[in-house]
Amino acid sequence: MNKQIIIHDKAFELFIPEAEIKKKIKEIAEKINKEYKYKNLFFVVVLNGGFIFASDLVREVELQCGISFVRFTSYKGKVSSGNVSQLIGLTDVVNDKDVIILEDIIDSGSTLKYLLNKFNDYKPLSLKIAALLYKTNPIIPKEDICYTGFEIPADFVVGYGLDYMESGRNLRDIYVMK
Ligand code: IMP
Ligand code: MG
Repeated sequence: MNKQIIIHDKAFELFIPEAEIKKKIKEIAEKINKEYKYKNLFFVVVLNGGFIFASDLVREVELQCGISFVRFTSYKGKVSSGNVSQLIGLTDVVNDKDVIILEDIIDSGSTLKYLLNKFNDYKPLSLKIAALLYKTNPIIPKEDICYTGFEIPADFVVGYGLDYMESGRNLRDIYVMK
């Protein structure tokens, strides 16, 4: 039986061990090392979930590159009752750069779609996506992700940067909710 853990009120079992994640990240980095040799590489990391994926990946990349971070903040509108999501951190530092967006996971695809639209206000030389985990969705087709770690079913996962109710981000392996 796979290793099991409890986070808050839910049980999770081991899904992708650390060694497999590390191997996959090395493969992605090798591709980037080849494909961006003569380019102006710049990583845009989506927080919070992307922080561990990004820190492991960029240290396997042997090219000169820049790194910057963006984040979605969700706040309750004072007038409207709806949740409003805002993007912070995207600046014109990405102009004239060969940008790779680093995402922990593509689930519905709506976060990434929103972020890609925001890039229309800037002028990157090129724009590609790397996602550690990909769930099949109707918004972002698989072919649009240049560097994919693992294609996974539509189950909830935690660890290696990903949280369940703000816990579990520091787990070395990825676990799936039972
Ligand atoms: P989206 O549905 O593609 O817009 O994903 C939005 C965000 O939800 C992701 O960037 C993650 O931070 C989070 N998320 C989606 N699926 C999971 C999951 O299985 N575990 C933990 N976080 C998730
Ligand atoms: Mg995320």
